[in-house]
Parts: sequence; C-alpha cells; structure tokens
Amino acid sequence: MKVLGIETSCDETAIAVLEAHLEVEPPSGLGRARVKILSNVISSQVQLHAKFGGVVPLLAAREHANNIRHVFERALREAGILNFKKDIDLIAVTHGPGLGPALLVGIAFAKTIAMLHDKILVGVNHMEGHIFSNWLPPIAEAISYKLKAKSFPVLNLIVSGGHTELVIIDKNLGYRVVGETMDDAVGEAFDKVARLLNLGYPGGPAISQRAEKWKYRNIDIPKLDIILPRPMEKSKDYNFSYSGLKTAVLYKIRGLKEAGVEMNEEVVNEICHAFQEAAINVLIQKTVRAAKEFSVKAIWLSGGVSANSLLRDRLANAAAELKIPYSQPLLEYTGDNAAMIALAGHISWNKASKKTADWRSIQMQANLRF
Ligand code: KG4
Ligand code: ZN
Repeated sequence: MKVLGIETSCDETAIAVLEAHLEVEPPSGLGRARVKILSNVISSQVQLHAKFGGVVPLLAAREHANNIRHVFERALREAGILNFKKDIDLIAVTHGPGLGPALLVGIAFAKTIAMLHDKILVGVNHMEGHIFSNWLPPIAEAISYKLKAKSFPVLNLIVSGGHTELVIIDKNLGYRVVGETMDDAVGEAFDKVARLLNLGYPGGPAISQRAEKWKYRNIDIPKLDIILPRPMEKSKDYNFSYSGLKTAVLYKIRGLKEAGVEMNEEVVNEICHAFQEAAINVLIQKTVRAAKEFSVKAIWLSGGVSANSLLRDRLANAAAELKIPYSQPLLEYTGDNAAMIALAGHISWNKASKKTADWRSIQMQANLRF
C-alpha cells in the first residue's frame, strides 16, 4: 500500500510517498516489512529564519501555507501518482510536538485531503518519526527487514533542535523516556553557541565543520587548551542539561576578549572543538550507562543532531565496545522529513489493527510526549 506523509512541525515543509508492505502482528507492531520511498520532498525555510537566528513560528506557518500545495504536487509527481483517490491508501501527518501554528498548517491540509478523498488519516508523534528514520532506505531502493521481539529492548538516543531524549523501545513498540534535557536541547545549544560566535543559523553544521578544521590545524599556532564543563556528566540519572554549557561558552569568549585574545579563525575553531567535545561526551557517557543498566539489545541514534559525524563515530564505537548492534539514519533522513512520518504512521496504524479514529478527531498537540 502507499502512504502519504506530511510534516510541518518546524521549518521544513515536507511531503513523501512511501510504498510499504507490512505483515505485522498487532498489538506489537513487529513482523516483516518491505519499504520503498517513492518521493521525499523537503522545502526548507532555513534561509528565511537565518536572519532572526532561529525559527519564528508565525513566519514558519505562513511559509508552510504558501508552499504546501506545491510540495504536495511535486511529491505526487515524483512518486508517479496520477490518481490520488485510487493510488494512496493512508495519510499520516505530524500532530506534535512542534510549533503550534506550523503544525496546524500540515494538519489542516491533511484533514482537507482526507475528507475530499475519503482517506484514513493517522496523527504521528514527530519523535516517533525520528525513531523510524533508522529504517528508511535510500530513495527508490526497496529494503526488507524483520522486526523480532528478541531484538528488543532498544535504546534510542534522540537529539534534535527541540529534544534530547533517551528512550527505551520495548518489544510491543511501547516507549519509555528514561532521560531527557532539563533545559535546552543539544541542537539548541549548537544553535545558540553558533550565534555567540556569529556562525549563522542553524549552528550544528557550522560548529562541527569548524571543530573538524581545528583538529587538522596548523600545529605551529599555539592552542588555548580550552576545557568546558560537561553538565550532569556525573549525575546518576540519564538527564541532560545544556544551558550551563552555552553560558560557559559565553563567559569563555568574554574572558578571552578581556585577556586581549583576538577572535580569529583559529580561536573560534578551537572554541567550537571544545564545545562539541563537551556536548557529545555527555551524550555518549549517558547512552552507554543506560544501555548497560537496561540491558538493551541495540542502540539507535536519531534526530537532526545525528548528522554530526563525531557523534556518529563515537556512538558507533561505543556500541561496538559493548558488542551491541548499532544503527543510525542515513544522512538524508537525520533532519525533519516526511518519509519517517509516513513509516511511523503506517506502523502505528498496523499496530492498532488498522482501526483508526475519524480524521475529525486528529488534534494539534504542540507539547505531545511519548
Ligand atoms: O530534527 P531537526 O531537523 O529539527 C527538530 O526537530 O528540531 O534538528 C535540527 C537541529 C538543529 O539544532 C541543528 O543545528 C542540528 O539539528 N544539527 C546539527 C548538525 N546538523 C544539524 N547539530 C550538530 N551537528 C550537526 N552536523
Ligand atoms: Zn525533528
């Protein structure tokens, strides 16, 4: 069957068409699956929000409203869908968490087409979408897999602009959050530190590139040996905190300036390196500790920050040392996309024995949790 996914929770207007054959046993949702992405269109608003240093919710909603029809038409065209009513079997839309005005545009659009074409509509938790991004194949390539109960529980580290969570997924595809951020999300910290250093928005890619450059620096230039705090590293729980780390960067920049250090490229690169080390170290340590305590059978990584190559390498190595299977999304599915929403929607619909509430009952839930 073919599933249309719709995602507008933040600053990407995204629509995808997924072809999926699932033979799963409700209520677990486990079983065999064959998945192929027919189209995956993403219209990014990053340039619009860059001048404000972050996403402006009402501007995001306006852009979604302007773009969604074009994104929809392109997604259908690229997937070769000529007759929507006949060819699409299910619609899945992100109903939270996210920016309220932005979510509403996608939900209103999804309800309209569900009503017009008499289709089943499922509301999807955006974070569940990120979890399933691990199973998405390259576009137009089919993959088959079998989800077995013995491969669970799984520990998923979800790291994005709005979330930093350690989630245990059980063999019934039920979720339990065992750790989360007490303040800023890790992606948000990358964005805020990038703003302090005038590196533009979003900050994650810029900081990781600068940190990488520093690693291969000219060794004739003396380094500053910057060490930043690793908040909550020693706490016994699995929670995180990133606002103190951001403030430590602010004080470090001030201190360096007062000491007469010029904020040249080398110095900025070194600050990026020190920040990235501190931010990622805590993620790895807590994930490893949680994997041991909960005796998980696999570790998965997901969310926008999972594009970070240092995090990908370190977590893969940590899982290898623990002899636990590890998976991460392909780079093209680390950020927000609708293919992950289509897959998560399809799985939850199967889990619910294909019984779905009327499209009228789907509500926007900006603070939706697992
Ligand atoms: O999942 P996502 O696309 O949107 C949300 O749901 O928040 O995540 C966006 C976040 C931004 O904070 C961005 O700076 C961060 O992911 N990000 C990165 C990298 N690429 C994107 N953070 C660190 N390193 C990267 N390479
Ligand atoms: Zn996201």
